[in-house]
Amino acid sequence: MLSSRLLLSLVLIPAFASAAVFPADSLVKMLDAKTFKKAMKANQTSLVAFVAPWCGHCQRMAPEYSKAALGLHPLVPLYAVDCDDDKNKRLCAEQGVQGFPTVKVFPRGSQLPPMVYEGAERTASAFYYYATRRIPASSTSLFRTEEIVPWIEKTVDQRRALLLTKDKKVPLLWKVLANKYKGQLEFGAHRDKKGKSSVALGFEAGDKKESKVLVYAPGSNKPFRYEGINKFDSLSKFFDSVIDGTVDINVINEEAKAEEFEPSEEELAIQQKQEAQRIALLHGGYSDLIDFEQAVLNGNAENYHDVHGFGSPPPLKKKDGEAKAKEGGAASAETAASAETAATAEEVKAETVKAETEAAKPTTEATPTPEAVKVDESHVGKDETEL
Ligand SMILES: *[C@@H]1O[C@H](CO)[C@@H](O)[C@H](O)[C@H]1NC(C)=O
Repeated sequence: MLSSRLLLSLVLIPAFASAAVFPADSLVKMLDAKTFKKAMKANQTSLVAFVAPWCGHCQRMAPEYSKAALGLHPLVPLYAVDCDDDKNKRLCAEQGVQGFPTVKVFPRGSQLPPMVYEGAERTASAFYYYATRRIPASSTSLFRTEEIVPWIEKTVDQRRALLLTKDKKVPLLWKVLANKYKGQLEFGAHRDKKGKSSVALGFEAGDKKESKVLVYAPGSNKPFRYEGINKFDSLSKFFDSVIDGTVDINVINEEAKAEEFEPSEEELAIQQKQEAQRIALLHGGYSDLIDFEQAVLNGNAENYHDVHGFGSPPPLKKKDGEAKAKEGGAASAETAASAETAATAEEVKAETVKAETEAAKPTTEATPTPEAVKVDESHVGKDETEL
């Protein structure tokens, strides 16, 4: 009796284990109908992958999708829904899911209509850049110092947050916050390269890389300088209190200033992994250097490249090549196309084998149509979670 029970559990365990599409330590959060609704109420840009455990494309996508989730944490959450689970079938139908995986971007939770990811590649960098480029622009860019005061005056009846940054571009974190608080807080951003505008507004010029977040209460043109930590959680907490409006900004700011930066053990582990991933990216892309990433985590990355080389070129370069091939005429375009077909044929074959062994399952798999993903290389390997 005991042995047959043991046998039964041995048979069952692998079946359950294979039901998980994403790795155990993945930052991809599984949603059901209820948590999906809750997630959409947060007004954030997020990606949702609609998957089925038996789907081979989903299994191949999972590690890449997880790497993008790590890279984008905590700015853009990456979610997944198991459409094979009976309790999620209605949600998947409502979302018009017809094949797996279907990845959709929700630019501002339930506030804006979603879009289907139709990129040709399901790689970490493709997901990363797709998600960041789909964040609706909600911060007003103030290019010249002289534009700042008119903007402050024009928006005087609102709560406003102004970023003075030394960065060339509006930082990703600021874009994310501006999108999240759209309709509740006006966001502006100004590049204050040498600190001249800071001085014009009555503040010190500041260090080389220092950012300043200024907050204006409705009806006031006198700014408060936010004194907390320039990260997503701290800034969100601060803005939540500002919007709440029941407590004086001075008091909230004192609280933010006193807040100690003590990440939880879990958060610390995530940050270490993010750092390792960023270094790996600088060394040639997401896909090839996962071993290097591990080497960094293990603390023996120093002579990694001497021993293992630099891996193959990053996906960014390949994309560039493809774009050039398209411009460069039919011959090279054809080469690119046939390479694509070869990969697809191989995948189809693998899928057929899979389908045969699992005859009862539906076999539809989404075939993505190519979309030129223009990758912004300037931010590769940069920590975008801080201002
Ligand atoms: C989401 O946006 C709407 C419209 O601006 C707003 O009413 C709602 O409070 C926002 N939700 C959150 C969680 O900020």
